[in-house]
Amino acid sequence: MAQQRRSHWGSKLGFILAAAGSAVGLGNIWKFPYVTGQNGGGIFVLVYLASVLLVGIPIMVAEILIGRRGQGSPVTALENIMGQGSPWKLLGWLGTATGFVILSYYAVVAGWALDYLFKSLTGAFWAVGIDEIPTLFDGLYTSATWNVIWLAVFMALTMGVVFGGIKGGIERWNRILMPGLFVLLLVLLVNSFFMKGFGEAMRFIFYPDPARFKGWASILEAVGQGFFSLSLGMGAMLTYGSYLEKDSDILGSAISISFLDTLVAMLAACILFPVIFSFGFEPQAGPGLVFKTLPVIFAQLPAGQLLAVVFFLLLVFAALTSSVSLLEVVSASLMERLSWSRRKAVSMSGATIFLFGIPSALSGSVLSDLHLVGERSVFDSLDYLASNWSLPLGGIGIALVAGWFMDAKASREEYETGAKQPRTYPFWRQAVRFLSPVAVALVFLKAIGLL
Ligand code: TRP
Repeated sequence: MAQQRRSHWGSKLGFILAAAGSAVGLGNIWKFPYVTGQNGGGIFVLVYLASVLLVGIPIMVAEILIGRRGQGSPVTALENIMGQGSPWKLLGWLGTATGFVILSYYAVVAGWALDYLFKSLTGAFWAVGIDEIPTLFDGLYTSATWNVIWLAVFMALTMGVVFGGIKGGIERWNRILMPGLFVLLLVLLVNSFFMKGFGEAMRFIFYPDPARFKGWASILEAVGQGFFSLSLGMGAMLTYGSYLEKDSDILGSAISISFLDTLVAMLAACILFPVIFSFGFEPQAGPGLVFKTLPVIFAQLPAGQLLAVVFFLLLVFAALTSSVSLLEVVSASLMERLSWSRRKAVSMSGATIFLFGIPSALSGSVLSDLHLVGERSVFDSLDYLASNWSLPLGGIGIALVAGWFMDAKASREEYETGAKQPRTYPFWRQAVRFLSPVAVALVFLKAIGLL
C-alpha cells in the first residue's frame, strides 16, 4: 500500500516530553496521593516503586517497540505486526475502548481543576476560614451544573490541542508546560518541608509498617496505579511510539519517562501529606484529597493567591497533556480504520466522550445513589474497572505479543535499532516474557480471589 509518510515528532526530546506529558498528569498529583492515603502508605509506596521498575519499564519498552514497528494506533499496529486476521487486534480495540472510558472520567477531574483555577482567581479560598476550605470541594462535587460545564470546557480544550496534530499541537505545548510544572512543585515542596507535620508525613509515606498494609487488593491497586500513571496498558505509549524516529533509543526513553513520572508522583505525596498531618485532616479522604488540602497551603502563604493560580493552571495543563494522549489514540484509530480526516475523527470522538462522561460528572449529585461496582459511584466504578482490570490485562496482552507472539527477529531488530545499549536486549526479553506478565497475572488472580 502506497502511504504518505507518517507524522513524526520534531526531535527526540520532543518525544520524551510528549510521552512524559502523557504520563505526568492527574494520576500523579490527584490520584497517587489519595490512593496512597487509602492504602496506608509505606508498603504500598514500596510495591508501587517495585512495579514501576519490574513491570512498568519493560512494558513501556514493549508498547513503544510495537508502535514503532507496527506504525499505527493499537489496532493497526497489531494488524501490521501480527497479520490481517489476527485475534490480537482485539487487544487493540480493548485498549482503544479503555482510552475512551478513562478520558470520560479523567475530564471530570480535570474539570475540578478548572473550577479550582477559577476559585483561585476569584479568591474563594481566602473568603472562608482554613477549616472550611475542605468543604468547598463538597460544594463542587454535589453541583451537577458545574461538573457538566467544566467537563465540556475541558473536552473542548483537549480537542483543540489534538486538532493541531503531532508536532504543532501535542509536542509544542508539552515543551513549555512540563518544565513549568516541575519548578512549581519544587517551590511547594520547600514550603511543605517547613510544616510541622513533615516528619510524620515522611513516616507515613516511606516507613513500611505492616500494620498499615492491606493485602493483595492493595498490591493490585499499586500495580493498577503504576499502569495508569505511566499511561500503559491501552496503547497510548504504543501510539506515541508510532510517531518515533528509528534512530531513537527505546529503552533510554522509557527509563527517562518513567523516572520523571515517578518523581512527580513522589513530589506530590511529599507536598500533600505534610498538610494533612499538620492540620489533622484525613489521609483517606479519597478523590477530593488534593482539592481539600492544597488550598490550605495557598491560603497561608504570603504570595498564596498567585501560587494557587499558577498551580491550578499547571494542573490543568498536566491534565491536558495526558487527556490529549487519550484522545489521540481514539481519534488516530478512527482516522486509520475509517479513513476519516483528523478534524472529523477528533470532533466525533471528543463529542461522544463528553456525552459518555456526563454520568461521571453527575456522580456526586443527581446520580449519587447509583452504584455500579460494589459501593462505588459511577465515577469510581469506571476508574476501578479501567485501572485495576483493563490496564493490567492490556499490559499482559502487550507483554505476550512482544515477548512470545511476534516474530522474535523483528522484536530484536526493533529493540536494537537506535539503542544506546543493544546488549540489554536479553534482559528486556526475559522480563517481558516472564517477569512482567507473571507478576501482573499473579497479583491480579490473588486480588480477585482466584489464587
Ligand atoms: N498517565 C496519565 C496520568 O497519570 C493518564 C493517562 C494518559 C493514561 N494516557 C493514559 C492512563 C493511558 C492510562 C492509559 O494522569
